[in-house]
Amino acid sequence: MTHLNAPAQGSPDLSMRIEYWRAYPALSSPDVRHYGQPVALVVATTFEQARAAANLVDVEYAGAPGCYDFAACQDQTYAPDALIYGAIPPDTSVGDFDAGFDSAPVRIDVRYSTPYELSQPMEPHACLVVPHGEDLIVHVSTQIVDAARSSIVRTLLIDPERIHIITPYVGGGFGSKLRIHAETILAALAARALRRPVKVALTRQQMFHLTGLRPTSSQRVRLGAQRDGRLVAIAHEVTMHTNPRSDFIEPTAATTRSLYAAPNRLTSHRLTPLDLPRGEDVRAPGEAPGMLVVESAMDELADALGMDPVELRIRNEPTVDPEQGLPFSDRQLVDCLREGARRFGWERRPATPASVREGQWLVGYGMAAGIRGHIQVPTTAQVRLAADGTAVVQTDMTDIGTGTYTVLTQVAADGLGLPPDQVRVELGRSEYPVSMGSGGSWGAANSSTAVHRACQALREKLVAAARNDVRSALHGLDPAGAKFSDGIVSIDGVSEALSEIVARNYPDGVAADGQTPAMRDDPNYADYSIHTYGAHFAEVGVDADTAEIRLRRMLGVFSVGRVLNAKTARSQLIGGMIWGAGAALEEDAVVDLRSGAFVTRDLAQYLVPVHADIPEVDAVVLDGYDGKANVLGAKGLGELGICGAGAAVANAVFNATGVRVRDFPITLEKVLPGLPPLDD
Ligand code: MOS
Repeated sequence: MTHLNAPAQGSPDLSMRIEYWRAYPALSSPDVRHYGQPVALVVATTFEQARAAANLVDVEYAGAPGCYDFAACQDQTYAPDALIYGAIPPDTSVGDFDAGFDSAPVRIDVRYSTPYELSQPMEPHACLVVPHGEDLIVHVSTQIVDAARSSIVRTLLIDPERIHIITPYVGGGFGSKLRIHAETILAALAARALRRPVKVALTRQQMFHLTGLRPTSSQRVRLGAQRDGRLVAIAHEVTMHTNPRSDFIEPTAATTRSLYAAPNRLTSHRLTPLDLPRGEDVRAPGEAPGMLVVESAMDELADALGMDPVELRIRNEPTVDPEQGLPFSDRQLVDCLREGARRFGWERRPATPASVREGQWLVGYGMAAGIRGHIQVPTTAQVRLAADGTAVVQTDMTDIGTGTYTVLTQVAADGLGLPPDQVRVELGRSEYPVSMGSGGSWGAANSSTAVHRACQALREKLVAAARNDVRSALHGLDPAGAKFSDGIVSIDGVSEALSEIVARNYPDGVAADGQTPAMRDDPNYADYSIHTYGAHFAEVGVDADTAEIRLRRMLGVFSVGRVLNAKTARSQLIGGMIWGAGAALEEDAVVDLRSGAFVTRDLAQYLVPVHADIPEVDAVVLDGYDGKANVLGAKGLGELGICGAGAAVANAVFNATGVRVRDFPITLEKVLPGLPPLDD
């Protein structure tokens, strides 16, 4: 199948606010927009035949000049109309930045760059489409079931009822599976044409051009401070690459707006179009590269002031959101900083850079703050109780290795007063109530809230039924005092088994729906600044001869409201911190400036941390409950772990060596020329 015989497809409707729901046509034009774009699909009965046949395809191209060099194409840079989904303005300005900055006695004006990075989950993007009459059963690895269905429907121009998504286990996603890609559309087109099941799986090499690319960025940060460390002016201006036909903008400076107090402020986002694959969401889109840079610049300010970096942050703690003027729902950044400093032994930090040497190793400590917005998204779930008193939870929510099954089992068991083994959670099918899936750290808290609400509605139904039922021990009692626990419903010391109430009143079972409202329908999200916070600490050793950097230990202390599951939360946070270390020291997708091809096209060349790179990492979560976020008091934390983690590592490298690298990743050849002279 090529553009010559591929069926007509729908094209993306740019007026749809969120892109994951838009059409995603494949093989729809003879024009190749970037290196690696699919130009043909070969289907065979075995994998080996398909690969061999694909290798026989000869493609002729009429070349045209392209723009692949981010630095060289800066004259093309433009201002976008809106950040993601139009909800966040690209530029903000408070007070008079220039005047404030000029008046500040201590000034930092630095430009940092971050490379192209990729999501690269261990489980490649793959899809098996099985035709069933006129229907297509789509087994696909995707983060949002409803978006996958919508995207297929709008591309194939098919009735939504004909598409059935099945994705009980997703594997990793990290943003790269928020939407479907060519593999799904190609499998669907071919299965429909052949009336046979077709599976398309991307190779690791193909993923580097087709899924999950984080834009490269150039970021200028200016900080103006009084000698006591108080910020007078803060500016964070970001330029990143995009594809000329389709904007993608990471909100890289967005959380800087809420981080520190300063009367004069400026943030902006600009785009430089290149003939490369378009950017996509990659774990903590925006905050990850943004916090890496801002928190490195804050370390530069601390150094210029001769001030402890923890103290500098505490001195700039705002009392209200510094740009929106809103109260914080629950801000414990200072607690995170203090608790982290205490646990890490921050007082042992070398006060002077490059002053501590242990044998071959220069030793340094670094720290950084972390912040991430919490997002509420419309989500529905249904909970059904069978006559035997067991419960089934259904929602098209996904589990991308984050523990959704576990967390929703706990929430439903808690909500109905059942032992967890009497709850079954069913996820990832388009027949189930619609959720926003997993992404943007919105999964667990929002789907848990919907399940909790469904349980609440079920409890009310059951207690009302018992009260009105002369056969019930609870007949006529006040439902307000009802307690559900261990499968027993009790009111004022009188009790009855939950299963008896269900069996008597609802022999076929009973169900209730629960919903989490959109942010715009929840006044708390207009009245409060709702974020999660963290403080990161890192110790590194840098080889005094070779500048090899070895991470020695990392600690993160976080504030996320209430934790739904301590183990899965800790795993998410540690995963994020390790990713932060990788962003500081390793990750770098390199473009061939002649063709726009990524030459680092596997995990041997595109480096991510392996076990040998990662020493002791610990994540601690402060006790908390954010009642403004939702009824459970829980906020999303999946992406918080990465926010600021890399800066703590980078700042530790500076503390160890006195060398500040502003071009990430910090590799040894960038550090080596600045190392202190060897003595013996
Ligand atoms: Mo998120 S960018 O879906 O990990």
